[in-house]
Amino acid sequence: MSAPVADMDAIVSVRDLQVQFQTTDRHATVKAVDGVDFDVRRGETFGIIGESGSGKTTIGRALVFLLKPSAGAILHNGLDPLALPRRQFQSHRRDYQIIFQDPNAALNPRMTILSSVLEPLELAREGNKAERLKRAHEAMDRVGLPQDIGARYPHQLSGGQKQRVVIARALTLRPKLIVCDEVVAALDMSIRGDVLNLFAELQRDLGLTYVFITHDLAVVSHISERIAVMYLGRFVELGPTEEVSERPLHPYTQALLSAEPRPLPSSMRGGQRIVLQGEIPSPIDPPSGCRFRTRCQYAQPLCAEKTPDWRELARDHWVACHFADRPNFSPN
Ligand SMILES: Nc1ncnc2c1ncn2[C@@H]1O[C@H](COP(=O)(O)OP(=O)(O)O)[C@@H](O)[C@H]1O
Ligand code: SF4
Ligand SMILES: [Mg+2]
Repeated sequence: MSAPVADMDAIVSVRDLQVQFQTTDRHATVKAVDGVDFDVRRGETFGIIGESGSGKTTIGRALVFLLKPSAGAILHNGLDPLALPRRQFQSHRRDYQIIFQDPNAALNPRMTILSSVLEPLELAREGNKAERLKRAHEAMDRVGLPQDIGARYPHQLSGGQKQRVVIARALTLRPKLIVCDEVVAALDMSIRGDVLNLFAELQRDLGLTYVFITHDLAVVSHISERIAVMYLGRFVELGPTEEVSERPLHPYTQALLSAEPRPLPSSMRGGQRIVLQGEIPSPIDPPSGCRFRTRCQYAQPLCAEKTPDWRELARDHWVACHFADRPNFSPN
């Protein structure tokens, strides 16, 4: 599989990434990520969407080296962080943060908010006490938390405030890139927009790069310049957000879009709602050829025999489907 972009301005380059887990009985291998290539450009928001179980969180964790690739490479600014001496690796990692869905899991219930925000700076032994305090206060300011919240405990805060604390914690270390994994999924609908706007504002002010992982198309199209669509350990489509949502080339993307309650892209208006049949198959034993074939209404014999190539069918718009360039290919 060739790389979608050979980008000089890539902050992260992922090449043939594979991440495998052993099942608890050690009798089988879960191919959670199974050959993914992409570059994240400096300053952009790169969205990754796909159903639960497709491997999104595993990619996110690998990008910040919370887990080690089983094969392939992840380069940060063209360099392999795993080649760095241990101490340099630890300090390098601070530039690449990850935030998860559940702020309760990220915050110690017995620590005050201020102690939680200070903690990463203390662990990293950044500056003296006064400097650390100043940076913690700055970070709380940036995310719109009043300073008096510092003396409180997590259970005294709303879900949205707790997620802001988690964001402040990540910001104290002045990262270059943040992986945001379903960061608004646990929040009330009414405050999701505010938190997404906060991410946009921080990006503008601090020049951050985001990898925005979500199962929610509305979230990703709101915030991302480009999106990748993931299915069973692989990318099936990648391109500029508008292009992918207006002219989806892969049958899986088309199905995801048609399931959206919002207005359909123009290419699909008047078309039918595509209902995905069945569950996502197991990544222990994925279907041969095209992994989507067991749920694809267009599947042909070739789809079981051959893995589709990763092809650039329009500028910057990549897809893995044997028939994506044949207009109006019709269901069986
Ligand atoms: N630590 C692990 N051990 C075994 N299997 C795992 C582990 N982490 C994830 N998986 C499996 O890998 C696949 C991808 O998981 P994940 O990356 O969490 O997907 P997503 O974030 O898209 O829901 C799933 O089948 C999941 O059960
Ligand atoms: S390669 Fe075949 S099975 Fe896969 S998405 Fe395309 S038509 Fe469907
Ligand atoms: Mg996940």
